[in-house]
Amino acid sequence: MPLQFRSLLNRFVTLSVVVPCVALSSWAQSGNLHPWSNTSLSPDERAAMVVKEMTLDEKITLLHGTGMKGLSLMSPLAINSNGGAGYVPGIPRLGIPAIQMSDAAYGVRGSGENGRYSTALPSDLAGAASWDLDAAFEYGALIGRELRAQGYNMTLGGGTNLTREPRNGRTFEYLGEDPVLAGKMVGSVMKGLQAQHVIGDIKHYALNDQDSGRNAVNITIDKRAARESDLLAFEIGLQESDAAAVMCSYNRVWGDYACENKYLLTDIVKKDWNFKGFILSDWGGTHSIEKASAAGLDHEEPGEIFYGDEFKKAVEAGKVPVTELDDHVRRILRGMFAAGVVDDPPQRSVVDIMGGLEVAQKIAEESTVLLKNDHAQLPLDASKIHSIAVIGPHADVGMISGGGSAQVDPPGGNAIMPPGKGNTYWQAHIWFPTSPLKTIRAKAPAANVQFDSGADPAAAAALAKNADVAIVFAYQWESEGMDLDSLSLPENQDELIAKVAAANPHTVVVLETGTAVTMPWVDQVSGILEAWYAGSRGAEAVANLLFGDVNPSAKLPMTFPRSEADLPHPTVVKPPKVTVDADHQGWKRIAAGLPAFQVTYDEGVKVGYKWYDAENKPVLFPFGYGLSYTTYSYSKLKVTPGKNPRVTFTVTNTGNRAGAEVAEVYASLPAAAAEPPKRLVGWSKVKLNAGESKEVSVDVYPKYLSIFNVEQNGWQLLPGDYGFMVGGSSQSLPLKQSVNLK
Ligand code: BGC
Repeated sequence: MPLQFRSLLNRFVTLSVVVPCVALSSWAQSGNLHPWSNTSLSPDERAAMVVKEMTLDEKITLLHGTGMKGLSLMSPLAINSNGGAGYVPGIPRLGIPAIQMSDAAYGVRGSGENGRYSTALPSDLAGAASWDLDAAFEYGALIGRELRAQGYNMTLGGGTNLTREPRNGRTFEYLGEDPVLAGKMVGSVMKGLQAQHVIGDIKHYALNDQDSGRNAVNITIDKRAARESDLLAFEIGLQESDAAAVMCSYNRVWGDYACENKYLLTDIVKKDWNFKGFILSDWGGTHSIEKASAAGLDHEEPGEIFYGDEFKKAVEAGKVPVTELDDHVRRILRGMFAAGVVDDPPQRSVVDIMGGLEVAQKIAEESTVLLKNDHAQLPLDASKIHSIAVIGPHADVGMISGGGSAQVDPPGGNAIMPPGKGNTYWQAHIWFPTSPLKTIRAKAPAANVQFDSGADPAAAAALAKNADVAIVFAYQWESEGMDLDSLSLPENQDELIAKVAAANPHTVVVLETGTAVTMPWVDQVSGILEAWYAGSRGAEAVANLLFGDVNPSAKLPMTFPRSEADLPHPTVVKPPKVTVDADHQGWKRIAAGLPAFQVTYDEGVKVGYKWYDAENKPVLFPFGYGLSYTTYSYSKLKVTPGKNPRVTFTVTNTGNRAGAEVAEVYASLPAAAAEPPKRLVGWSKVKLNAGESKEVSVDVYPKYLSIFNVEQNGWQLLPGDYGFMVGGSSQSLPLKQSVNLK
C-alpha cells in the first residue's frame, strides 16, 4: 500500500480509536494527539516514545531520501518534495513531518527553480575572515530564515573541511586552515540556523580535502594528526552548536569509505564526541547495508539503493539487528525534536530581500581583507580624485560567485547572461549583479570614472595611465567537482595587473577569489583588497572600504603561499578520468565503488601556517594577517594558569579612526609534545575608537593546548612550559609569556 495512503488510513484509525482515550489527558484537551507532543519532555524521551510506536515500514521510510530532482529516479513519495536536494516523507499518523533538505552553504540553493531567489552571502571562507562569532550567528540565522520561508527545515550547509589543499575547488565553502577558527565559526553558524528551527548539518566528514576523484580517493594520515587537525574542527563545531546532523563524505579514509568507517562514525563521532544526532551520507556516498549500518551510518541520500527495501530485508533476515535500526531512527527523530522542526514547522513566506541584502553587505564589509596599503593609498578621498580607471572582467556589471551545490540564485540572476536567461546552472560562472563600476561612480560623482574589461592589457594600461587611480578587479572561479591546477589568476590577469601597475603607480587590486592566489605583481601595486566571493552586495561593501566609509577589520583565515612549490604537495593527485552519468545508473556505479587511488597526508597536523612555520618557509601573506586604516598596539600580557588558562592583555587603537582588531592568541607546547611551533588557541574581535584602549581576556579551553594520545584514546595536556603569544597576525605577535602548566 502506498505509504501516504497508508498513513492517511492510519491517521483515520488513530483519530477514531485512540482519541477517546487520549481525550482524558490534558494533552488531548490542549489539542495534542500524541504523548510525545509534550514539549516539556526531552528530545531523547520524545524520540524514544515515537520509535516504540513505529512499524518496520515507517522506520525504513526515515532511513533514506526519495531521489533528487533532475539527477536520479524519484520515488512516487517525492510528490511532496520541495525540490531541494533531499526529501524524506514524514509519518503523518504519528505527527512526524517530512524533512525537506536544501543545500545552503552561503545562501539557499536553487531558489530560481522555485520561482524565487535567495540572499547570496559572502562565501563561507569570507565569513571566516571576519573572525566574528556574532556575524557567523547572523549568517546562519539569515540562511535559516530563508530556508523556512521556502519551506525547508534542514540545511546541507556547514562545510567544515580544513584548507589542507588550497587548490581544492570547494575551499570557498569551507572556513580556512585552522581547526579552532573553523570549528568555532561553524558552531556559531549552526547555532544561528538551529535557533530558526532548522536542522543543522556539518559536512563533509572527514578529510574530503580535495574534490578530484572524491568518490574514489583513499586518504591516509596519522591518527593523532587527524584528531588534532581536520577532525578537531568537526569536534569543536558539534560541541559548540549541537548541530543535529553530520554528513559523511565520499572519500575513503584508512581504506574504508567514510560513510562505512566505524572508527570515524561510531568510535569518534557517536562515542568520543557523544553526538546525539544522525549521520547522513553525501549524495551517493552510501556503499553497503550491514557494514554501513554497523559502522554508524543512519541515513542514505539521495535515494534508497541500500537503505530502503534491501535494508528492510536485511533486518527481517536478522543481518541488521533491530536495535541498530532503532538507533538510526531514534537519532533522526531526536534531531528533529531537538532542532524544533516537529513543534514549529516552516511556514512559507516572502524572503525579506532588503533585510537579507543589508546583512550580506555588513558581512562582506567585515570579511574583506586589506592585504597591502602602501603610502596610505587607501582610503580614496573622492574630493581629491579627478579620474578613476575601473578595470577587470565584468567589473562593470557584477562580481563572481562560487559554483556547485553551494551556488545561490540571487535577486537579479546572473549579471552576464542575456535578459531572461539570468538563472544559474551547475558549474557555470555566475556573476552576481552587484556592479563595482556603479558603486565606485556613486562614491566619486565628480570624478571621471571609466571602465575597461582588461581583455586587452595594453588598452587597459592606456586607460590607467591617464587616471589618478586604477582599480583592477581580478577574479578566480572555483566550484565543487573540480580542483584548481594552480593558484594563479586565470585569463592572463597577472599580465593585466602588471601592465596596469606599470602604467599607474596608484594601482589597487581587488581580488574576488575562493582561495589564496599567487601574486607575481605584489611589489608593483600600491593596494590589495581580498574580497573573496563577496555575495549579493559585494560591490557596495568594496566601495565602502575603498572610500573609507568602513574601516577594514578582516584577517586571513588561510595562508597565502608565495608559490605552489611551497605547498605540502606539489600537485593535486588526480585519478584516471572516470565518467559517471548523472542519473540513477551513475549513482549505482558510484555506490558499487570506483577503483581507489591513494593520497597520503604525510604533512599530518602541519596544515596551513603550521606547515610554513615548521618548514621555515616564507609566505606571501600569513594566516591571521590583515591591515586596517588605523593601527593597534598590544601591551600588558598576563597569563593566569588554571583549568582554562586566562590570557589577559590590552589593545590600543593608536591611529585616528575607529576600528575593530582581531586580537589573536597562539600557544607553543612543551618540546615533548613534538608539535609545530605554534597553534591558534583563541581570539577576540575588539572594537576601539581612535585612541581607545581595552583590556581583553581570552580563556583557553584545555583541549586547544592538548595533544591527542591515540593509545589512551584521549586528549592529554602534557605538563611543562607553554608559551602564550598575542598579536595581530600569526607572524606579528609582540606579546609573549611562558607559563608552566601541570
Ligand atoms: C555534495 C554535497 C551536497 C549534496 C547535495 C553532493 O554532491 O558533495 O555537499 O550537499 O551533493 O546537493
